[in-house]
Amino acid sequence: MEYRHTPVLLAEVLKQLFPHPGSVIVDCTLGGAGHAKRIADSIGPTGTLVGIDQDDAALTAAAETLRLGQHVILVKGNFGDLDRLLIEAGLAYVDGFLFDLGVSSPQLDFAERGFSYKTDAPLDMRMDPTAGGITAADVVNSYQESDIARVIREYGEERWASRIAAFIVAARARRPVTSTEELVGIIKDAVPAAARRGGPHPARRTFQALRIEVNRELEVLSSALRAAVRWLVPGGRIVVISYHSLEDRVVKRAFADLSRGCKCPPDIPVCVCETVPVVQVLTPKPIVPGAAEIGENPRARSAKLRAAMKL
Ligand SMILES: C[S@@+](CC[C@H](N)C(=O)[O-])C[C@H]1O[C@@H](n2cnc3c(N)ncnc32)[C@H](O)[C@@H]1O
Repeated sequence: MEYRHTPVLLAEVLKQLFPHPGSVIVDCTLGGAGHAKRIADSIGPTGTLVGIDQDDAALTAAAETLRLGQHVILVKGNFGDLDRLLIEAGLAYVDGFLFDLGVSSPQLDFAERGFSYKTDAPLDMRMDPTAGGITAADVVNSYQESDIARVIREYGEERWASRIAAFIVAARARRPVTSTEELVGIIKDAVPAAARRGGPHPARRTFQALRIEVNRELEVLSSALRAAVRWLVPGGRIVVISYHSLEDRVVKRAFADLSRGCKCPPDIPVCVCETVPVVQVLTPKPIVPGAAEIGENPRARSAKLRAAMKL
């Protein structure tokens, strides 16, 4: 299948990231290199672009789009290992980081990856199946009921989490749940008919929750943002596009934390923590796509862009 993914908020990314001739830019979520292609054009032959992705299909597509060479380096890995990946890529500092989170359109479209509730596939959902790790089937078939409910409630913000967990546990007592279609059927049985009418697909929140759990997305993001800021030169930028409220909260909190000075309790007369702000937040409110972009690319509708500059 052709790898087709339209970059979201492209003009805003370029404005906030500010890639210019000679810049060293790291795209931590390379995907099909939609953003990276434009970044590579902006930094020219004197700049360096490192593109990271944990997905082989994305790296193959990106390699076809970008002209690889000394100054465009593609790295397979999880941005949770940012320090190691950047040292291996030979970088000493970075002028800008881009994180365009979540899954790409092709990952959703390649049915066999199990990300989509719309097509039947094995319950996998690992972004890098070659790295081992637990699958969505492992979560569904081996976690305790209370843990399944917690995952679905916290990461899916699903009000029917307990009922869905109970229905999953009842179903797996008959036989293991191994396909997306079986799981969708269980969720449909669990969510009351009245709640299923109108809103989004009843399985959407549960699938999101399982994907976040399987890939440890929120923990990895929080530590990677902090690692990225350590690599930035003063004036360097970090730009993050998130696609759901939990991710956006992690980004907002990390930036707020890194931009705050003294953290001493208010009743201490003199600062003893000596904390200094590390970044300046460039987007007090997140930047969101306009109606025209959403019309052309419905997957942009939940995007939120936040940016910060290293002090
Ligand atoms: C939304 S897509 C990026 C699309 C890209 N900006 C473009 O314009 O083509 C997100 C990509 O990030 C990758 N990804 C998500 N989490 C990752 C992580 N923790 N480490 C490495 N890659 C990750 C996914 O495999 C996917 O290819």
